[in-house]
Amino acid sequence: MSRHVVLVGLMGSGKSTIGRALAESLVWDFVDTDRVVEQREGCSVAQIFASRGESGFRTIESDVLREVLASPTRQVIATGGGIVTSPENRRVLRSHDVIWLTASVDTLTRRVEKSRADRPLLGDDVRNRLTDLSHQRTDLYAEVVNRCESVDDRKVDDIVRSIASSLDVEPEVEP
Ligand code: S3P
Repeated sequence: MSRHVVLVGLMGSGKSTIGRALAESLVWDFVDTDRVVEQREGCSVAQIFASRGESGFRTIESDVLREVLASPTRQVIATGGGIVTSPENRRVLRSHDVIWLTASVDTLTRRVEKSRADRPLLGDDVRNRLTDLSHQRTDLYAEVVNRCESVDDRKVDDIVRSIASSLDVEPEVEP
């Protein structure tokens, strides 16, 4: 099994944007577990929450995580913010380079504003919800990560360079 780079963090922390840019700079494949879930089920994450509830979504998400981690080619994997809520997911993540993208609740709230409808866990009071999720999940992220990267007030390129330089591969980004 390959050692993949896995991005974790709360909704709005930029896992997909940074993951895609990081994969490009490393010339690796990029996978987003939410998108794989949607492709597999033929409907959106919000529709899965509506029809099968959060636990139905978590079961599919865990299957997808195991599937993408089994890839023999090293890849950058962006995960859904709640991937760490499963103890079994936390266990399997420990064999990979797990990077935790951290951000203030202000940053997260601002960033998810336009995509609230796609994220069923946010509800109406986004700031409070993100604050709660941050409290609930901080220890869970901390349990699996190799490295934290704050994304507040930073450009994607800067974050990508910083992550790439911490890995045991040469980045192909401009100096
Ligand atoms: C969730 C985060 C979402 C998605 C689902 C649940 C969570 O992914 O998996 O709505 O529990 O935090 P993003 O973190 O990519 O928004």
